[in-house]
Amino acid sequence: MENSITPCDLEALGLAARRSLAYLQTVGSRRVAPCPSAVSALAQFQEPLPEAPGDTFCVLDLLDRVGSPATVATAGGRFFGFVNGAALPVSVGATWIASAWDQNAALRVMSPAAAAIEDVALGWVRDALGLPAECGGAVVTGASMANFTGLAAARHALLERSGWDVENDGVFGAPPLTVVVGDEVHASLLKALGLLGLGRRRVIRVPADEQGRMRADRMPALDDRCIVCIQAGNVNSGAFDPAASICRRALDAGAWVHVDGAFGLWAAASPQYRHLTEGFDLADSWATDGHKWPNVGYDCGIAMVRNAAAMRAAMAVSAAYFIPGELREPSNYTPEMSRRARGVELWATLRSLGRRGLAELIERTCRHARRFAEGLRAGGYEILNEVVINQVLVSFGEPAVTRAVIAKVQSEGTCWCGGTEWHGRPAMRISVSSWATTEEDVDMSLAAIRRIAEECRR
Ligand SMILES: Cc1ncc(COP(=O)(O)O)c(C=O)c1O
Repeated sequence: MENSITPCDLEALGLAARRSLAYLQTVGSRRVAPCPSAVSALAQFQEPLPEAPGDTFCVLDLLDRVGSPATVATAGGRFFGFVNGAALPVSVGATWIASAWDQNAALRVMSPAAAAIEDVALGWVRDALGLPAECGGAVVTGASMANFTGLAAARHALLERSGWDVENDGVFGAPPLTVVVGDEVHASLLKALGLLGLGRRRVIRVPADEQGRMRADRMPALDDRCIVCIQAGNVNSGAFDPAASICRRALDAGAWVHVDGAFGLWAAASPQYRHLTEGFDLADSWATDGHKWPNVGYDCGIAMVRNAAAMRAAMAVSAAYFIPGELREPSNYTPEMSRRARGVELWATLRSLGRRGLAELIERTCRHARRFAEGLRAGGYEILNEVVINQVLVSFGEPAVTRAVIAKVQSEGTCWCGGTEWHGRPAMRISVSSWATTEEDVDMSLAAIRRIAEECRR
């Protein structure tokens, strides 16, 4: 095999670019869930590890021919499951360039470009979300790792106050910390607590109200060994915890407040929705995602910590060969050492959207969510949440009917919506998070959902 790029390789990369463009040109008009035959065809990938090197062209051709039809059309405008953004074209292009660069974004010396671009992107995130300028920041894989990073900084800072070095001595025998969460805490935050030795179950759960907001009047007494975890954007209802009152009480007590704002925190970027995020800037650490509402390609999460030194203490390592420079070293703030240049797509997306484009994206998706709610209500179906941002929960009546509607919508292919339970009732979740969704997409999806619901009710 040649050890420099060959004309054949270049031709194969051209094929990959052309096939990617064809995919993006058609993804909006194909069925959203792949058809069963395309999923069955994935069996073609099941083969023993080849003995001989394969031709680049053939490998990429197989990937596109068999893989592409079995993808879910999340890059189109009618996928409303989970909270999935669709990569903006500028983000896709940035990924292509960054993939060609193949930079390791651990240290600045490995990639001055990746480090400088990430610095700028993190500064813009701080600005757009209204977070303190002194925050330390990291670009990680998603809100799960951002929760982990923020909580690791919290664990460091609170135990350091008691003279305990948790990074070196671990949690065994450490002074106990109390973790307070809302009853509607996201599963990824509990997972982060487990990974940090703080325990998924060893938490005080504060009751939530009917929208899933933590009840400030039911908060326990706090002190300077408490970590309080609040939420900007409930994964089901989109509701925001009452941050201002919780943060003020925590501040008075010397407790640490961590915000899981995977998508909701981006409401701060819109003048119309900013009021929902009031008080969240008083917290100590924040987790959010680029790959959800801002439509950066997967994967892209962001951790911010007011006390940058605590973040660094929790994340930095040293080794004889790993020599930091004078400026901020990305991997001193992240759980990973080697990592791809994730900041590139984040930078490109924010650079392209600008402040106005970001606000417009937030406002447009919220408008589409309201259109869904109005259309379903008009069809006689019950909207279970206050539609405060981009999330809609709907019941189609009897639990079995709602479950049947969700299953049929998913298999029918016009659009894709997930299921959940809300206050003990099955519900369909509609999350409008894609830049690509148009009013026509909403109307087409509404017509399909209403038709299927009528069929299921009969
Ligand atoms: C509130 C909340 N927190 C955390 C997460 C986890 O995010 P990720 O999948 O990017 O790790 C989600 C995902 O939907 C979420 O809605």
